[in-house]
Amino acid sequence: MNDSRELAPILLRWYDRHARTLPWRAPRGERPDPYRVWLAEIMLQQTTVPAVAPFFRRFVARWPTVAALAETPLDDVLRAWAGLGYYARARNLHKCARVVMDEYEGRLPDDEAALRKLPGIGRYTAAAIAAIAFDRPAVVIDGNVERVIARLHAIDIPLPKGRRVIAEAAGALAPASRPGDFAQAMMDLGATICTARAPRCMLCPWNEFCAARRGGEPERYPRRERKRVKPMRRGIAFFLRRADGAVWLRRRPERGLLGGMMEVPSTPWRERAWSDAAARRAAPMALAWHELPGEVRHGFTHFALELKVWAARVGRAAMRDERLAFDDGEWVAVDRLDELALPTLMKKVVAHALKAEQE
Ligand code: ADE
Repeated sequence: MNDSRELAPILLRWYDRHARTLPWRAPRGERPDPYRVWLAEIMLQQTTVPAVAPFFRRFVARWPTVAALAETPLDDVLRAWAGLGYYARARNLHKCARVVMDEYEGRLPDDEAALRKLPGIGRYTAAAIAAIAFDRPAVVIDGNVERVIARLHAIDIPLPKGRRVIAEAAGALAPASRPGDFAQAMMDLGATICTARAPRCMLCPWNEFCAARRGGEPERYPRRERKRVKPMRRGIAFFLRRADGAVWLRRRPERGLLGGMMEVPSTPWRERAWSDAAARRAAPMALAWHELPGEVRHGFTHFALELKVWAARVGRAAMRDERLAFDDGEWVAVDRLDELALPTLMKKVVAHALKAEQE
């Protein structure tokens, strides 16, 4: 009973009536533009649909084709990406556009294996593009789909171990016809009905087939290994202003977290708290720093960060003091900060410091 012959057509009929209207989707009956599908999938990798939509619209208005994106300087792409986070995605996107121009005459390849070789395209994204853009029979499994399948079959093996069984079950469900619509229908079902909390089983087209619903506790699925708490790292950010109000920023190294992005300089981020003396030694220059009240918190994938902010001002005399090395950063006027590709964490630091100064 629970296989593609029965279940897939039911879901597809539901999708025909209830598909979400999303800016990267084609109107019914039309093929979507692979460029838009690819761009959307990259943006959606770590970001929610509502957060992505306005960025997506701006991107395609400004760069309507792979060729337009490939011709753009990387910095412009990073700047347009600021706010979406995980900037490696934007670098790979840009690199990928250039590879697609050089090796595929500007058209994304239409099979999973070739897609997977491109920068920024992993197993999930290759399957999603192959299915959605080219209607290839790829099995597309994201977090939403995992939840739907784990519930449908009441799969008891906790994630991440349970992924293999979930993938097999997903493969058995996938239909030969309309694989792109089926993949998107699974996503929509997971996002709108089979939600992590308070699923709306009454409205679910599969409710009579769902083992988790029969068991009475659909929210228990997917089961998960208990998560380890993220380690906490700490640092001091140094917010330095010139007499005219400009803020001193520098560029992070190309490799690593927030690679190549502008930052408010800081101590290294470590688990052990910083003593005043250690922070002073790590400061970019020896100035009369004072600590601002409060702190800035930010969650990265593998750790949480808590930054205290120390502020200082440099007057005209200090600017001429050759013992103070101002050459590895740049002064940026406050009203120009918006133009820079500042990562969200750094926006928080600047906002925190400016607010503290006013109080
Ligand atoms: N999440 C990831 N890809 C998506 C898509 N194509 N449509 C809706 N949600 C998604």
